[in-house]
Amino acid sequence: DTTLRDAADAADFRLGAAVAADPLRTDAGYWTSLRRGFNTVTAENAMKMGPMRPEPGVYDFTDADAVANFAEAHDMALRGHTLVWHNQLPDWFQEWDYTDDQLAAFLRDHVHTVAGRYRGTVEAWDVVNEAVADDGTMRDSVWYDALGERYLDDAFRWANDVAPDADLFYNDYGADAVNEKSDAIYELLEGMLDRGVPVDGVGLQMHALDGVPDPESVAENVRRFSDLGLDVHVTEMDVAYPEADAPENHRERQAEDYRDVLDVCLAEGVDTLVVWGVRDSDSWIPEWFPHVTEDPLLFDASNDPKPAYHALKERL
Ligand code: XIL
Repeated sequence: DTTLRDAADAADFRLGAAVAADPLRTDAGYWTSLRRGFNTVTAENAMKMGPMRPEPGVYDFTDADAVANFAEAHDMALRGHTLVWHNQLPDWFQEWDYTDDQLAAFLRDHVHTVAGRYRGTVEAWDVVNEAVADDGTMRDSVWYDALGERYLDDAFRWANDVAPDADLFYNDYGADAVNEKSDAIYELLEGMLDRGVPVDGVGLQMHALDGVPDPESVAENVRRFSDLGLDVHVTEMDVAYPEADAPENHRERQAEDYRDVLDVCLAEGVDTLVVWGVRDSDSWIPEWFPHVTEDPLLFDASNDPKPAYHALKERL
């Protein structure tokens, strides 16, 4: 019986899932579904700064290594997520009284250490995550406040110092189609490329909470980034609908939505699509967005593949 993973392998397409370290160690159903569906993984949390930096001066790579080792053992590609973000920072860090120079040195050390450790293992890094606010201005964050816009240039250069073979991505949400935010990201990345910053790609998170955006507009958005010379990945896909007016049979509609986005990928040269979790029961959506349907992924809680799984398999 061919699996979705087999279909992705045969199409030379990277179909991925975000994974958590705990069920990888303990839950046979989890890793069976993971191996059935995917040839690529992203650590859902384990490579973020908070989880990796329990105390000042201390790095804890236990969970990140568990994800990396699983990927290697099962011949899966690894996307690194994420080196610089305003969220999930260490608790101690928020209390730390630093100067701007100390903050820059801290960030450089972090990027060098983490990207360096996974050199040759992580194929693509989300170097900077969510630096742009929804209205297209630069997002206020510890990094932006202390260092200004140059923190992005620096982060990409530092990652490139230690992982020159990894593809270095800027990643964001709400910028999947052509809109104010993706316009701003386009200009940001164009400026970075003009300055010779080693940015290789843009990640479209694709947390689709009201069905997926218009596929035509997503395709147009992908094309403009490609025309800049950037790779595009779909990095964190979820498909949900507002509970109040969810379509009937929303799982069938969800299958179409997943297929529509895969079609855009195949037509526009996007070779990577990552779904933000394995089973519906693993998803972050019910906790963070209680007003939407709570089954955004490709497998149900019993590890049965859903219509969306079959739709993707058929298309690949
Ligand atoms: C989410 C994880 O899925 C949750 O487990 C965690 O509590 C919060 O972060 N954009 C991103 C991801 O770039 O890192 C986020 O992941 C979801 C939104």
